[in-house]
Amino acid sequence: MSAKGHFISFEGIDGSGKSTQARMLADDLRAAGHEVILTREPGGSAGAEEIRALVLQGDPDRWSAETELLLFTAARRDHLERVINPALAEGRIVICDRFADSTRMYQGLSRGDLRGKVDALHDLMIGREPDLTILIDMDPGQGLSRAKGRQGHEERFEDFGTDLQTKMRAGFLALAEEFAPRYRIIDGAASMNSVAEQVRNTVQAYLNP
Ligand code: ADP
Ligand code: TYD
Repeated sequence: MSAKGHFISFEGIDGSGKSTQARMLADDLRAAGHEVILTREPGGSAGAEEIRALVLQGDPDRWSAETELLLFTAARRDHLERVINPALAEGRIVICDRFADSTRMYQGLSRGDLRGKVDALHDLMIGREPDLTILIDMDPGQGLSRAKGRQGHEERFEDFGTDLQTKMRAGFLALAEEFAPRYRIIDGAASMNSVAEQVRNTVQAYLNP
């Protein structure tokens, strides 16, 4: 557990601009003299990146929601042990593109209600939340068209379509209420620089209360 660092996560639907904003925030904070680790899930450590390929590539029906939950949690445990916790213990700012809230949404809600199992496994194996979570809120159609524009091969979840993204958007907004003290919501529809400015102000307010 960290005594000194700060753990900041970005959440939101696919294509909402999380990776872009996480990168811009890392650049800003580094320019201001902070020691920053920019990382992502699924992945972020060597072992977790191997699991990433298993969960993000291939047919949408490749895994059941339960199997996926175990794989994402295994990846997170490795990432936490090897990257996040050591960096926090050294007093760094860890910026993570998605964390456990994504599991609460995608595995917890997408195919039936598995939220109870997600939370139980989280308590057992992860047991920590970010200090600050920035939700980039975005219209699902706009997010999906941005995500599709990227042309990758990690499209398993994007292939679930707009209905899933609509459900995820509502779910993230509900999560922001459930975990209100650590959540800040930012509208992702504006230009990259304008979203980045809001992110910067939000993080400054958190770091200098
Ligand atoms: P996410 O990580 O949430 O999936 P990305 O940061 O990868 O989203 O952004 C998805 C796509 O949309 C990328 O091609 C990115 O360049 C573009 N993009 C990101 N933010 C904006 C923005 N504010 N306006 C227009 N396009 C954006
Ligand atoms: P990511 O690379 O962040 O995709 P994007 O940039 O399109 O938002 O994450 C890939 C997918 O993995 C995304 O569709 C959400 C899914 N995911 C889960 O289903 N559970 C999880 O715990 C995490 C971290 C991601």
